[in-house]
Amino acid sequence: TGSGKFFVGGNWKCNGTKESIKKLVEDLNSAKFEEGVDVVVAPPFVYISQVIDTLTDRIEVAAQNSWSGKGGAFTGEISADQLVDVGLKWVIQGHSERRHVIGETNATIGKKTSYALSKGLGVIACVGEKLEEREADRTTEVVFEQMQAFADEISDWSKVVIAYEPVWAIGTGKVASPQQAQEVHAAIRGWLSDKISPEVAAATRIIYGGSVNGTNSGELAKKEDIDGFLVGGASLKGPEFVTICNAVT
Ligand code: G3P
Repeated sequence: TGSGKFFVGGNWKCNGTKESIKKLVEDLNSAKFEEGVDVVVAPPFVYISQVIDTLTDRIEVAAQNSWSGKGGAFTGEISADQLVDVGLKWVIQGHSERRHVIGETNATIGKKTSYALSKGLGVIACVGEKLEEREADRTTEVVFEQMQAFADEISDWSKVVIAYEPVWAIGTGKVASPQQAQEVHAAIRGWLSDKISPEVAAATRIIYGGSVNGTNSGELAKKEDIDGFLVGGASLKGPEFVTICNAVT
């Protein structure tokens, strides 16, 4: 653990039903979280109201995406203004599934990020390399490019959390080793220090995502520059997600 308060996000992705989410919310409501951890969950849009209405205030709610400007004739999109209107505090931007499955570019992601921040939302800004990029020794090059695209659109970093999610570790059960994750987290913090400021580098939380579970979270959390997690699959299981949140050291 490095900067700021430990931060754990549960990214539910495109999963769940009214019934399964009811159960998950019950599990989270009855859980005991360590004080030193910020806990955030990101349900699919259609279940956000259900979650906001039933989930304990101990946990904040995020959206998984938002539009790059205010609302209007944008079929299928949701604006940051609307997210704020229903009580959300956070939005995820630049998730690898949005980059590589949906085809969002660095530029699009930057615009969505600046608009969401301008409306007062916190942004969980995701970066991460693909397997072939890692194998070609391009990890930091790719991650720094993604960081630069965010930085081009961010003037105030106080509500930004950076999520490093190596694409090869997402949903594969292949977690980055604590050392592999630490190396990239340290590189990102160094980049922030050089390109933004030492203060921002010290204050910004850099969290890890990619096959985090109740078993590997403890070792990862011990690393100096790992300030929390963004959890996919394991965040759908209440008790395991609670274990991960409480891995704060
Ligand atoms: O955003 C979290 C994520 O992409 C990691 O997913 O299922 O590997 O924990 P998972």
